[in-house]
Amino acid sequence: MTIALSCQGLARSFGGVQAVKGVSLSLPAGQVTALVGPNGAGKTTVFNLITGNLRADEGSATLHGKPIMGLKPWQVARAGVARSFQDLRLFQHMSVRDNVLAATEPAGWFWQPGGASARREREAKADAAIQAAGLSAVADARAVDLAYAERKFLSMARILAAEANVWLLDEPASGLDLSSRERFQGLLHHARAQGVAICLIEHNLDVVMALADRIAFLDRGQVLAEGEPQAIMRDPKLAAIYFGDRQ
Ligand SMILES: Nc1ncnc2c1ncn2[C@@H]1O[C@H](COP(=O)(O)OP(=O)(O)OP(=O)(O)O)[C@@H](O)[C@H]1O
Ligand SMILES: [Mg+2]
Repeated sequence: MTIALSCQGLARSFGGVQAVKGVSLSLPAGQVTALVGPNGAGKTTVFNLITGNLRADEGSATLHGKPIMGLKPWQVARAGVARSFQDLRLFQHMSVRDNVLAATEPAGWFWQPGGASARREREAKADAAIQAAGLSAVADARAVDLAYAERKFLSMARILAAEANVWLLDEPASGLDLSSRERFQGLLHHARAQGVAICLIEHNLDVVMALADRIAFLDRGQVLAEGEPQAIMRDPKLAAIYFGDRQ
């Protein structure tokens, strides 16, 4: 098993709130690791610490064995980590195609190295990602005009176009109906088969059970358990925490 990304002892406080306390995680290539836990457990903060969107108080992270802590978000992206945001963060007034094109050059899309042929190559990549995400019919529409599920799939098209080998996905399937969820699962199955290491934050346990090879259960900033999905979800202590009737 090849570990694509791993972090050790991540910690971060906000004033008096210790949002993340000593989190260690390993993301194997070709596997989906679901990061599960109640609201406020620290899941999004863990992503922000890995991607350089937030500075860690303590801890380290490596990508294919190379340290990435302290890098800027665009440097982490360029190193091969693609992420989606809980609030999507699309370029609302740009077209679907331009939103996806922007993701093909994580170093800064307004400076385009390589001239016209590089530009054509990036356009072909963007179009392939748009097609894979099922958005060809709305490629010229503005992000702001898309339906809810289409915005979620646009966020996935940006991930696909980045050609990263680690994906950090923050609730990418929330609010999707059953058929959209199945389409979404198809995208993840395909990426997993290509060897992408996927970390999926997800509250819907049907989606988790359909996709996850492993679960890391986070509560109050700490990983309480990590392992095979059936075993984690059968644990009555974790279920009580997850469903809100902890003692
Ligand atoms: N930038 C910030 N400033 C202050 N507090 C923050 C910040 N980011 C997160 N927190 C706090 O850290 C804790 C963990 O938040 P986080 O967003 O990581 O949780 P989460 O597990 O992603 O929750 P959810 O499932 O609701 O998305 C919360 O108490 C939150 O209020
Ligand atoms: Mg969150």
